[in-house]
Amino acid sequence: MGLELRSPVIAASSTLTGTVENVVEAARCGAGAVVLKSLFEEQILLDSAESVEENEQRFWYGQAEDYIREYSRADALNGYLALLDECSRSVPVPVIASINCVSAGEWVSFAREMEGAGAAGLEVNIFVPPSDSSRSARENEQVYYDVLERVTKAVHIPVSAKISSYFSSMTESVGRLSRSGIGGLVLFNRFFSPDIDIETFSLKPGPVFSTPSELHHSLRWIAMLSGRVGCDLAASTGVHDGEALIKQLLAGASAVEVASVLYQKGFEEIRIMLGVLEEYMDRHGFERLSDFAGRMRMDAVENPAAYERVQFLKHFGNMS
Ligand SMILES: Cc1cc2nc3c(=O)[nH]c(=O)nc-3n(C[C@H](O)[C@H](O)[C@H](O)COP(=O)(O)O)c2cc1C
Repeated sequence: MGLELRSPVIAASSTLTGTVENVVEAARCGAGAVVLKSLFEEQILLDSAESVEENEQRFWYGQAEDYIREYSRADALNGYLALLDECSRSVPVPVIASINCVSAGEWVSFAREMEGAGAAGLEVNIFVPPSDSSRSARENEQVYYDVLERVTKAVHIPVSAKISSYFSSMTESVGRLSRSGIGGLVLFNRFFSPDIDIETFSLKPGPVFSTPSELHHSLRWIAMLSGRVGCDLAASTGVHDGEALIKQLLAGASAVEVASVLYQKGFEEIRIMLGVLEEYMDRHGFERLSDFAGRMRMDAVENPAAYERVQFLKHFGNMS
């Protein structure tokens, strides 16, 4: 996003980064920045709708509905702004606000208020599920451009987009997104996924946390897109240790965002990851990240096709 960070490990947006104490702890353990839990567009709209329903019978005047809607919205936003304000005053690292959105609605004005409350940047977490058979890929993608255009116009702080890999033409779409005025892209978000209980015939939550083996999807795309897009890239999903951090930096990420490992092992894990990075840099004689960052990106390796290889060929072991 163009922000100067003291370390390349960012505490990712999650419920963990929804309290001042945790944000302080993340910074104490060496996080270069913290992304606050998201303010969900859907949550705001739902809160408003529920309040209107609950209060429906009590209000007889037309304006009442508008009033409640505004009140609920303001309530959700005010809580978030208070958190943001206190966190940004409590830690010496950038605190990035996060909005989770599914449309370019009027909520975009909230971005300005977040800027006013001390956000060093804004991470816009967008996902339009490609599940509506009547909507074309272009129509779905247009939502991303509309959201980002409106948000980047609304604020002066840097904006990043946190996206999934559900794009028909990743390189083209991400290239366009990267030139839409944003300062960074986070690849990729990891979603809540459903599972099936085969005995009770009911749905249940899938695994909430990532595993280290989930690193490779974003690693591939960071390496393939690094140097080909118009903004910084941060890697998300599957970074659980110092080696994974180093791999993403070699692939061309400017930073990594971590969530699952913080839930599983605590914020101290950030310090351990940074220790592994320092030891690696000492061992290789690197003084700064730029001495090795991007060294393994697609356009820098001898066999770039290895990044595009997706089928398990007989000789899949030969990646060099
Ligand atoms: C419990 C939980 C809550 C999360 N909440 C958010 C959120 O509010 N906003 C968001 O952008 N990402 C959220 N995420 C996604 C993480 O920021 C991260 O992108 C994802 O978990 C992949 O990183 P990881 O492999 O380090 O967990 C959440 C993840 C977890 C596990």
